[in-house]
Amino acid sequence: MTWAQAPGKVILFGEHAVVYGRPAIAVPVIEVQARACVESGKAGQGTIIVAPDLNHRMSLREAPDDEPLARIVRLTLALMKADPDPDLTITVTSTVPVARGMGSGAAVSTAIVRALGKHLDYWLASRVISDLVFQTEVLYHGTPSGIDNTVVSFEKPIYFVKEVGWEVFWAGEPLLLAIADTGVASSTREVVADLRRRYQAEPARYTPAFDRIGEIAAAARSAIEQGQGETVGRLMDENHSLLQQLGVSSPELDGLVTAARGGGALGAKMSGAGWGGNMIALVTETSRGRVDMMLRLAGAASIIITEVR
Ligand code: PMV
Repeated sequence: MTWAQAPGKVILFGEHAVVYGRPAIAVPVIEVQARACVESGKAGQGTIIVAPDLNHRMSLREAPDDEPLARIVRLTLALMKADPDPDLTITVTSTVPVARGMGSGAAVSTAIVRALGKHLDYWLASRVISDLVFQTEVLYHGTPSGIDNTVVSFEKPIYFVKEVGWEVFWAGEPLLLAIADTGVASSTREVVADLRRRYQAEPARYTPAFDRIGEIAAAARSAIEQGQGETVGRLMDENHSLLQQLGVSSPELDGLVTAARGGGALGAKMSGAGWGGNMIALVTETSRGRVDMMLRLAGAASIIITEVR
């Protein structure tokens, strides 16, 4: 048996504006992981994909072309010039919350590609994995910017500009993030499509917010690299106000953001597509306990603490 895993992620700065070409920052969240195990199966069985958490079992032979797990398996086997339906059982499990802006689709796809590469002894560069995973992100998200597959396959903080490129960077001082779940599922595809309709109807109304979010992401990168936590926090607060103006926040997200600030967070914002999913708060060793308590009192369904390095 061969197995591999891949982490979740959060967007620190620049969601939505990234779809319109502005820079964004995302970081891996290693506290949650998707895992894929590949085992040899019975002769003639072909490839079977099992997702026990979802009570899902399918045969690659019968799976439609737009089934995301089947698509990533087919793409990976084709890239490796392997048998298109080998006798393998692929079991997928994940602790990355689904539909919460934590990159669960990208994590599952990345884990599958890595596990298949290992099992068939074929080295796949992170860039190649990211490009393969992008092709399944299209099924989950419609028009993905590509930030999720990039951060999940490289597992480092990234500064990302759609269709231009991206860079890995490091925090001058580790940053502590509390990631709190509203408990509300959110469809990235729907939120992105809704904003696109509104933007297309009135571009002049949305362009200044996209521009400012891009400037914030650029400034935040320098502040993170220089270990300036207070500046990072202020930029998170400003980014959240702009996301509210774009109409992608929600009462639940705003409630958790206010609670985190009340608990002493250096800054807080929604993260990912919005209308639900997660928010993030920048905390310190001193404030993390109080912020955690305030988030729970405000109704957070779960809280993950992660370190950005
Ligand atoms: O974090 P997610 O998976 O909800 O993605 C949202 C990020 C967006 O910028 C809103 C969309 C994208 O494709 O970058």
